Amino acid sequence: PDRPINVCVTGAAGQIAYSLLPLIAGGKVFGRHQPVSLRLLEIEAALPSLEGVVMELEDCAFPLLHSVFITSDAREAFRSCDVAVLLGAFPRKQGMERKDLLEKNAGIFKEQGEALNFEAAANVRVIVVGNPANTNAYVLKHFAPNVPEKNITALTRLDQNRAVSLVARKLGVPLSKVSDIYIWGNHSSTQYPDVLHGSVEGKGKLSDLLDKSYLEENFIPTIQKRGAAVIAARKMSSAMSAANAVCDHLHDWLLGSDSIVSMSVASDGSYGIERGTIFSFPLRCSRGGNYEIVKELQLDDFSQRYIKITAEELYAEKAEALALLS
Ligand code: NAI
Repeated sequence: PDRPINVCVTGAAGQIAYSLLPLIAGGKVFGRHQPVSLRLLEIEAALPSLEGVVMELEDCAFPLLHSVFITSDAREAFRSCDVAVLLGAFPRKQGMERKDLLEKNAGIFKEQGEALNFEAAANVRVIVVGNPANTNAYVLKHFAPNVPEKNITALTRLDQNRAVSLVARKLGVPLSKVSDIYIWGNHSSTQYPDVLHGSVEGKGKLSDLLDKSYLEENFIPTIQKRGAAVIAARKMSSAMSAANAVCDHLHDWLLGSDSIVSMSVASDGSYGIERGTIFSFPLRCSRGGNYEIVKELQLDDFSQRYIKITAEELYAEKAEALALLS
């Protein structure tokens, strides 16, 4: 293809964007032959800093980077956009209540949903990363009825990557041999990283290799709290690994994948999850940006217990966000 695709990135002067923009402009996300036009959105106060990022993009001399446009106006940013990567969100400040955070972000994602609804290309693909990611994506979907529901997703691939890596390290096996680890539910500390359908090539099923007390006491809480552990160590949140996961998510979604991958998408009622809830499921992605929720998995009581907790958290968050907006 020689027509550049329009990729809008919000929060483009932030940490994740700094790691992600070179992956997008360098061909790691959309393929080595796909030119890209970047449309970068920031709040007014961050535009001078964003200009520095643009200088660096120019200085990378990426052959695939067709153009870069910056703005603080969401409608301008989303104009004719084919892919929207929503990193920008209101950060949690000290002493701030969860409700305040939800409200600030619901306001941002309402405005951006409306802007997308009017401005974006008809088949725009959206990934929400800014937290609370699942509920922000839900709000966005609510205010963007023209965007196909299936095209609005949120990032839980970072959680999946963390889980695969931890299993490989725990069992002392190469990462490439570990397969079928999924994330269910919310990108939060209630998420359920599920290894019970997974296996290690040549060694057998993870349900035989890892016992449930290890999962319950060690593995699951470690993955649930990994983001906080990175903040405690780095004094900043995960950015390199988040950008890498956004790249994996978009690449597998748009170009297809042989593996089952986790993405948060609108529920179609699968596994009893309320329709429309943005919930992380295992998916099969085929070329051209199509995906299907994997339907045939058997969930034992152990898994169902975890899934119920994260589903209830999401139902409460989405009700709260909509109530705050009305
Ligand atoms: P950051 O604070 O470095 O950058 C965020 C940028 O967004 C800032 O430059 C800010 O000016 C901008 N921004 C704020 N409101 C905006 C708006 N209304 N429109 C456009 N831009 C706006 O944060 P970082 O580290 O890049 O993380 C971004 C988000 O991603 C955070 O909400 C973080 O919690 C979340 N995150 C999600 C992960 C996931 O797996 N879903 C993993 C890691 C981070």
